[in-house]
This record gives sequence, structure tokens and C-alpha cells, in this order.
Amino acid sequence: MKRIAIFASGNGSNAENVINYFQQHRCGGEVALVICNKPDAAVLDRAARLGVDAVVMPRAEINDPDRLLPVLDEYGVDVIVLAGFLLMVPGFLIERYRNRIVNIHPSLLPKYGGKGMYGSHIHEAVVAAGERETGITVHFVSEGCDEGEVIFQASVPVAGNDTPADVEAKIHELERLHFPRVIRETFID
Ligand code: GRF
Repeated sequence: MKRIAIFASGNGSNAENVINYFQQHRCGGEVALVICNKPDAAVLDRAARLGVDAVVMPRAEINDPDRLLPVLDEYGVDVIVLAGFLLMVPGFLIERYRNRIVNIHPSLLPKYGGKGMYGSHIHEAVVAAGERETGITVHFVSEGCDEGEVIFQASVPVAGNDTPADVEAKIHELERLHFPRVIRETFID
């Protein structure tokens, strides 16, 4: 059984979707743990409701190998999934989990990636630029921000009258459709 830790910072709709998927498909993977840097994040309620352990670790603890790695070892974590995780991933974690950490980014990287490109900022920029399509990217996490090898992309049309909120809804639907399966195909199958 491959044991997955999800790192998240906020709402956690992707975390919930991934947890549900691996609870429903007995495919050799399971979400063992959620790590969250915000004590009041909704993802913590979602994890509790789904019976998955969650650990709150503020930024300083996540950046401290002596605090973070023992938690991952205690849970026997093989694979890390970033799902709406807003902190930079520390270098020691990338080294330890090289090619075993993926992130989902809500644009077609390399477009709309990098510093400052997170959450609604991305969808606002996509609409402001008059893009005709946007999408999602699942990629390995490397030292550069949003720069790791791309594993999977899916796109969706942007209509002329779409608001950033409309685009966000389309993106969430793409994420719901694809992200758990891509994790499974990358690490489990
Ligand atoms: C998602 O759009 C994800 O692609 C991005 O941040 C958002 C997180 O949403 N990295 P949620 O917390 O999973 O609801």
C-alpha cells in the first residue's frame, strides 16, 4: 500500500476529492495524512469528516527537517501531494522525496506560474489577458517555483464573458475529474 500525505493550506476541495477517490477505489494507495500550515483551514474539517489524520504545522515547523521528517516517517509516507499548498516546499523535502512530490497548478504552465501566481490571481490574470483557454497542470515539484517536469495537462475554453469566478469553477471541475487518477497513474499503477 502506497501511503500518501496531502499538504494543503486552505479550502481543501482537492484534498477531499483525492481522499474520497482512494477510499473508494481499492487500488493500492491511501491518503494517510493531511498536513496543513493554517489552524483554521477548512481542509482540516474535511479530513476529520473523512477519518483522515491531520497535523497542523506552521511554516517554521514545515521548514525544520527535525520537525517535519519524523511526522512523515511516523505515518510511513511514500508520496506527497500538494493540493492548494501555499508555502514554498523546503529543499530538504524535495531531496528526500525526489520525483515523489507532485503539485496541481490551476493554469497551463508555464503560463501563469511563478511568484504571485496562486489562487484567484491566476484566474484574474487569465481573464485580463483575454485568453481563449486555460487549464490545469500536474507536475513534479522541483527547486524552482512551478518549474518541475509536467506530468499531465488538461484545458478548458474561456468564454468572452467569463469572470474569474467562472474560470475558477471550470478549473475546479477539471481538477475533480483528473487529479486523483493522475496521482494513481503516476505512483500506484
Ligand atoms: C486549486 O485550484 C489548486 O489547483 C491550486 O489551489 C486551489 C486549491 O483549491 N493549487 P482547494 O483548496 O483544493 O479547494
